[in-house]
Amino acid sequence: MNIFTSPLENRKGKLFFDGVAASELAEKYDTPLYVISENRVRDNYRRVKTALCAAYPKVDIHYAAKANTNIAVLKILESAGCSLDAVSPGEVATALRTGFTPQRILFTGTSVRNDELKALVDFGVEINLDATTQLERLLKITVPQSVSFRINPAIGAGHHSHVVTAGKESKFGIWENDAPAAYARAKEAGVKRFGIHMHIGAGILEPKPFAMALDKLLSVAADVRKKTGIEFEFIDMGGGLGVPYKPSENELDLKLFADTVLEPFKKNLAKYGLGQPTLYLELGRYLICDACVLLTRVNTIKITPHRKFAGTDAGFNTLIRPLLYNSYHHILATEKLNNSYAGIYDITGPICESGDLLAKERPMPVLEEGDLLAVMDAGAYGFSMSSPYNSRPRAMEILVRDGQCAIVRDRETLEDMLCKQHLPEWL
Ligand code: LLP
Repeated sequence: MNIFTSPLENRKGKLFFDGVAASELAEKYDTPLYVISENRVRDNYRRVKTALCAAYPKVDIHYAAKANTNIAVLKILESAGCSLDAVSPGEVATALRTGFTPQRILFTGTSVRNDELKALVDFGVEINLDATTQLERLLKITVPQSVSFRINPAIGAGHHSHVVTAGKESKFGIWENDAPAAYARAKEAGVKRFGIHMHIGAGILEPKPFAMALDKLLSVAADVRKKTGIEFEFIDMGGGLGVPYKPSENELDLKLFADTVLEPFKKNLAKYGLGQPTLYLELGRYLICDACVLLTRVNTIKITPHRKFAGTDAGFNTLIRPLLYNSYHHILATEKLNNSYAGIYDITGPICESGDLLAKERPMPVLEEGDLLAVMDAGAYGFSMSSPYNSRPRAMEILVRDGQCAIVRDRETLEDMLCKQHLPEWL
């Protein structure tokens, strides 16, 4: 994979991001800094929508907001025509505030409380139910316009065991044998419209697992239809389309994806008499991951008899993926792009734990204190999983478009971190 594809550019050894020098951004806004390219988000959406619609015209892409809930990102995707996948009432409320209508929002939760179900009903959004008991609790609140169940298709996949969300070990969804009775119950209660859902996992670069699981989902849908007479308005195959993080990895071939996943999908629809339902996808990483870099500055170089450390101002408080999933993020020294790799570094953060690494044993150019680093592919589950651990304020987010930039999230302050705490009277 060529790493210098839009929005990244190597101009005479210096990194530019959507037309702006990384060094200029770091100078102006300080580090750690998440920088998001509007053009890349739009391109990602357009590319996947066009490729999939060419194979099956009724494709509705939902942005999985959990990947990055910044309201600017939501607004970009809303204006591009994308729908939204929310995982909490908070995400639904955020999406509504950025202009998504309730009809374009689908909620998919797990361990959902009754007051949350009530809030979702009041918001008027569609709900994917994760358990048959959730239907009973929902029916006590209202008879919803539509009902969809998350099915566990018994096939899971993902870049790490933590993100495999189907299969025998998984807490998600209901199993195929329970599906007909669950839908029959909803129909008998007066529900008129139906969908069916799965989400097998995250960071999947091969189309095969999607094809196998979707095959299974359609056979469950066919069984439900046969036993209950229900016609499905939508089939939701979830998200999980991966992106390459390592230069040696290739991007997901969308044509191959369409051929491997959508062609059998169309055949199965016909085989099972399921009509022409809308196909939903819930994409987080695919839309936002490579549209964002994290800029961080080296403040400490330490060479011990055993290792070389480059200490930066971004740790697992800022980007937890390397620690949590052992994830690889490519890292560039933004002003040394043409320098040869001359040292092997552990790139560490400011958190007082030994697991606080952005990269372990990483070949880099000779690094010095003051160097600026760009951690690539930081857009998905980067900021959204960051925390103020060690009382370090969360980073700032910047949106860049064709050389212009704007702050889309202020850097957290000490005041922000303290304002929810209270001292009891007796202290
Ligand atoms: N739909 C559902 C129901 C989900 O649970 C998820 C992600 C998605 C869609 C979007 O998946 P995506 O297209 O982004 O892979 N924090 C992990 C990823 C967790 C994914 C959780 N669910 C990471 O940083 O890799």
